Amino acid sequence: MKSSEIRESFIAFFESKAHKRVKSAPVLPIGDKSLLFTNAGMNQFKSIFLNTEQPKDLRVVNSQKCIRVSGKHNDLEEVGRDGFHHTFFEMLGNWSFGDYYKKEAIQWSWELFTEVWKLDKHKLWVTVFEEDDEAYEIWKECTDIDPSRIIRSGAKDNFWEMAETGPCGPCSEIHYYVGDNPSNQNANMVNHSSEYWELWNLVFIQYNRLKDGSMEELPKKHVDTGAGLERLCSVLQQKNSNYQTDLFSEIISEIESISQTSYNDHEVSYNVLCDHIRMLTFSIADGIIPSNDGRGYVVRRVLRRASKFAMNLGVKDPILYQLVQALVTVMSSHYPEIKEKQQYIEQTILNEEKSFLRTLEKGVLQFEKIISESNKTIIDGIDAFKLYDTYGFPLDLTQLMAEERQMKVDID
Ligand code: SER
Repeated sequence: MKSSEIRESFIAFFESKAHKRVKSAPVLPIGDKSLLFTNAGMNQFKSIFLNTEQPKDLRVVNSQKCIRVSGKHNDLEEVGRDGFHHTFFEMLGNWSFGDYYKKEAIQWSWELFTEVWKLDKHKLWVTVFEEDDEAYEIWKECTDIDPSRIIRSGAKDNFWEMAETGPCGPCSEIHYYVGDNPSNQNANMVNHSSEYWELWNLVFIQYNRLKDGSMEELPKKHVDTGAGLERLCSVLQQKNSNYQTDLFSEIISEIESISQTSYNDHEVSYNVLCDHIRMLTFSIADGIIPSNDGRGYVVRRVLRRASKFAMNLGVKDPILYQLVQALVTVMSSHYPEIKEKQQYIEQTILNEEKSFLRTLEKGVLQFEKIISESNKTIIDGIDAFKLYDTYGFPLDLTQLMAEERQMKVDID
């Protein structure tokens, strides 16, 4: 199945369970100061969970554009190094607003995975919050999962919160073994090994986290689920990495043709470019522009990081803006806004690339000078500041370059 068919198949499955199909919210959260970017499908329903808004429909389903580069959920450091973390990703989700609860959420997730998509039950694992006996019993009694594949774990992995404050609750995750040796699967490795991918998170929202850290019980119980489309594509298309799926193949071909290099020789740099162009395109389409503070600065940092990785491929001219077309080809049928605003997005990226490229090369020379002068393994704060102030290197870019040389930046 192609990515567009997988997305559609998820949505259609829940429509068949009486869910209303709704649109993705923008990645720029509207009226929510607790978030820089939309980081989960449930964000747009926060006030329904908190009971300050009444839902039009009690069951909804969609694919939500999400960005996780700041705050409680931040995956930036992982991007590129492995095949399954992203700054921008799509989260498929189904919701119940005070309607069905754990039993249906669990049974339907199992039905979709094992009966519709026919994922191998002998590779699936399920985690539940250690205190959630109800979820444990439902998995055991109402599905045909082998009970030895149900694992209890603590709040770190099985209690989900959208931000420092707001709706939250215990969750149950479905993981999939992607390694080459199924007979070596081990319950203790779930959540601890890159051979086990979390595919779907079923959150049972029943509390509101307050500023003082305490939790109040919500008047109703809700379901909030999220499944990363990119990982699902990887598994269903039998690939080892999200970047090998059809979601990224057009972008990879475009980078190969512009840079005259090959993906296999530069996997990390390609992955970073593929990932970051999606974050940039969708952010700009939804009205966030590169700037010196707040979410605009996050966009600027991501763009500068991408420019640095393009430089690793030997590309010295602006390249990122040229990748927007490939993304439009793959994703605009579901997200028409990127086609409608394509020209504006390309121009915004091009302007920003040009301005950074004017200092990038000099900054890299300055960086080399700093590290050649120092026989330490630490880059001084004053040098990191100079790279930021004079050459426009965001701190995380300097940290990344330092790390490439087994060095650290003196953050204090
Ligand atoms: N809100 C949960 C998550 O983001 C499930 O959708 O994982």
